[in-house]
Amino acid sequence: MVLKQKKNTKSYTPIKKIKLLSARITRMKVLIDKSIAEIEAFNIEDLKSLEDFRILFLGSKGRVKNLFGELKGVPNEEKREVGQLLNNFRALAEEKFASFKDQLENTATDSAKIDASRPGDDQEIGARHPLSLVRSEIIDIFNRIGYAVSEGPEIEDDWHNFSALNFPPEHPARDMQDTFFIEKGDVEMALRTHTSSVQVRVMENSKPPIRTISPGRVYRNEAISARAHCFFHQVEGLYIDKNVSFADLKQTLLYFAKEMFGEKAQIRLRPSYFPFTEPSAEVDVSCTICNSKGCNVCKYSGWLEILGCGMVDPNVLDACGIDSKEYSGFAFGMGIERITQLKYKVNDLRLYSENDVRFLKQFTAGI
Ligand code: DAH
Repeated sequence: MVLKQKKNTKSYTPIKKIKLLSARITRMKVLIDKSIAEIEAFNIEDLKSLEDFRILFLGSKGRVKNLFGELKGVPNEEKREVGQLLNNFRALAEEKFASFKDQLENTATDSAKIDASRPGDDQEIGARHPLSLVRSEIIDIFNRIGYAVSEGPEIEDDWHNFSALNFPPEHPARDMQDTFFIEKGDVEMALRTHTSSVQVRVMENSKPPIRTISPGRVYRNEAISARAHCFFHQVEGLYIDKNVSFADLKQTLLYFAKEMFGEKAQIRLRPSYFPFTEPSAEVDVSCTICNSKGCNVCKYSGWLEILGCGMVDPNVLDACGIDSKEYSGFAFGMGIERITQLKYKVNDLRLYSENDVRFLKQFTAGI
């Protein structure tokens, strides 16, 4: 009897085919692994690269579609495992695509995303600092009568800040100005205590006639309070020529007061002392707040102190290389904070350097 072998096509797979199938599965697995690595490394930075990504992995001829197409040829026993791998692969590609799409849409700047009919955002307009406003105004006032602007360094040597200005080494007047000293190499330098140092530099470097003002920041070792600060601003004035007199000084300052505080402004000069001027005076302006009637700002005197001045001491002229027998001149120095305080009625020096926008915003009129 011949035993007939039952033909069972389903369970029978020739060796060669098995080999082919397992080679295909291995290749699929390798390709899935490689594609996952590629997805992770793919650099999506704009809409164009997002679209490239979509075409490569999720498009109708993309990797996901192709690999799923091959799943048909995978034997049933393997389908589960390979299918699982493919599902993960597809989920990863879709996830990356969706998250980058979201991100790019939120930051998209291409014209299609801009709604041109949308009202513009409000732009906060800044304001010039009150000290800058007043400094510019002072400069303008003196420019109109022929004064140029000159500036000098904030870190000064002893000569320019003191010695040339007739402060001998142990002179007590040096104590009037609490100085910050700093070491620069072996040399002791100072943060300038006044802009008078600039007049020395100007006189050393130019010939009369000299008409200049020097605005700038100065430093003093003072405790910070409403009335004192460790830095503030001054404007120095200097006029040197033949036959300059005290009357010229007085008239120049009266002109300044009227330009700055109004036609009705008056000035008065009180004798004073500065090492670099002789004679020296302090100048008061009639109180702008109460029109000289008396108020708590002028302490019921009707006058407010605004600056120091005097005729340049001949010692200073000679120290700076100007012949004191031929030339004379006057100098004055005023605090910008002080003038600003009177003009804008600011009563606390600290406000100038706190950068509180609620304070600074009030000066927009000067833009
Ligand atoms: N340097 C003086 C100070 O800081 C101000 C001053 C007074 C300047 C009299 C001058 C002047 O030029 O003549 O207190």
